[in-house]
Amino acid sequence: MKKIIIFLGAPGAGKGTAAGAVAPKINARHVSTGAMLRDALARKTPAGLEAKSYMESGGLVPDEVLCKMIGELLAETSDGTTLFFDGFPRTLAQAEALEKLAADNGAVVHNAVLIDAPEAILLERLGGRRVCPKCGAGYHVTNMPPKTAGICDQCGAELVTRADDQPDTIRHRLEVYQSATAPVVGFYRTAGKVVDVDGSKDAATVAEQVLAACK
Ligand code: AP5
Repeated sequence: MKKIIIFLGAPGAGKGTAAGAVAPKINARHVSTGAMLRDALARKTPAGLEAKSYMESGGLVPDEVLCKMIGELLAETSDGTTLFFDGFPRTLAQAEALEKLAADNGAVVHNAVLIDAPEAILLERLGGRRVCPKCGAGYHVTNMPPKTAGICDQCGAELVTRADDQPDTIRHRLEVYQSATAPVVGFYRTAGKVVDVDGSKDAATVAEQVLAACK
């Protein structure tokens, strides 16, 4: 059986940071649909090109594109793997589709970790986020700065601001989260699968809470 742990939370809540910190501790595979789409876009694949305008505006890429990506990933994943889904599902249609995709591919949704933080914190985190375009490592100018300003600790590349971390796009992403993704939280609450994590704490404390939720 393949075990899926879903990371829910608004943009900037710290899903990617927590999933990235905890995955190596339990040998889980961190699957970020945002990172997969950015990679597809950089490689100019058909899915990447289709996703481009949605991502740039801060909207959601069509459900069919995501469900196809996740279906393929589940099919190629070995039995016994734990998967961290960071950024999927984020519509009710995706959550419903995942039930079938999981059943068809010998997988089960173990639980859904909801990382929550107040909007002021989300805005501060997204505004200060810097990412490595080469290896994907994430930083924050004050909360998690690299050793040398502007340079990736892991691979030495120059850090950049994500294209969708501009003020207007951030606003739109937060609105989309409330309208399209918040109902997904209700879906997993009804199923008794939500584990609440206080995302306003420092990154190490959040990672500890997430690790506990993975057991
Ligand atoms: P995606 O990449 O998933 O973006 P997101 O959901 O908006 O989430 P973020 O990556 O912005 O936030 P995060 O919670 O991971 O925060 P992070 O850990 O980086 O998606 C991008 C786009 O792709 C979407 O807008 C959409 O277009 C498309 N897409 C992706 N999936 C899709 C789907 N399923 N359906 C349709 N479209 C889809 O942290 C943020 C910052 O805070 C960092 O600088 C970090 O260093 C800092 N930080 C993190 N945790 C802490 C902490 N505890 N204390 C202090 N600082 C912290």
